[in-house]
Amino acid sequence: MTDQYAVMGNPIAHSKSPRIHAAFASETHQDIHYDKLLVEQGQLAEAIANFRTQGGKGLNITVPFKNDAFDLADNLTERAQLAGAVNTLVLNNDGTLHADNTDGIGLVRDLTINHQFDLKGARILLLGAGGAVQGVLLPLLQQQPSEIVIANRTVSKAEALCEKFSAYGNLSASGFEDLNGQSFDGIINGTAASLQGEVPPLPDNILNEGAWCYDMMYSNEPTAFVQWGEKQGATQSVDGLGMLVEQAAESFALWRDVKPNTSTVIQLLRESA
Ligand code: ATR
Repeated sequence: MTDQYAVMGNPIAHSKSPRIHAAFASETHQDIHYDKLLVEQGQLAEAIANFRTQGGKGLNITVPFKNDAFDLADNLTERAQLAGAVNTLVLNNDGTLHADNTDGIGLVRDLTINHQFDLKGARILLLGAGGAVQGVLLPLLQQQPSEIVIANRTVSKAEALCEKFSAYGNLSASGFEDLNGQSFDGIINGTAASLQGEVPPLPDNILNEGAWCYDMMYSNEPTAFVQWGEKQGATQSVDGLGMLVEQAAESFALWRDVKPNTSTVIQLLRESA
């Protein structure tokens, strides 16, 4: 029987994951089937149990179930533990669930490999302090930036993240207005503002010479934050499509023990946008 994989979320209709994983499977000659499954709130455990009886071997978990998946896991990688959220499950034969979070490493690979941004020694501004930001902090800190400043509308949430991750690198918390007069080598937008076509209220002139901007969101048109970065003179201002493909590749490698090529898939998605 062909091994079954799927992404579970709500909504799920527009997920690009089935296309991405089908391309990976074809390129690596893996006999798998990958579906997208709509799950009702509070029904994740049942949906996973059902999927298991149908030959399910692994799952991606997306909004709004990443915390539920965290709670259901039997064992967690360190990065999933610190993320407090899970985007990848391995359905072990003994009935247990192994859980990982590949979002952060997906972001890091897109930044450092696909876009060639230097994170080591860089002073980075990270916008937002919600689940998306917590999900990527450990892999970002492991790249040894000189400092990450977490700026958020609600400063107390940024402060709580700094406390939680203080052992892993140099972190500080800020409000947006306090960024005036500071400067950064790169800015990563992890707020949900892009979803509303908005940009957090950032001061002008906070980009160092050669600085880059990265929006963890992606869209067919340049996002509001990508446009902001372009106006501010960033060397590159890019969206998070590559992160989506890279996190998928990390999940695929965990399930199938083979690393797919990501650049052709990123290009494919970009061209068909
Ligand atoms: P996610 O899982 O996408 O991170 P979340 O946990 O609800 O979702 O967090 C959303 C983040 O986007 C928060 O940092 C939020 O700021 P607050 O903590 O102050 O609410 C931020 N955010 C959402 N809309 C925003 C906007 N219009 N401008 C600035 N920040 C915004």
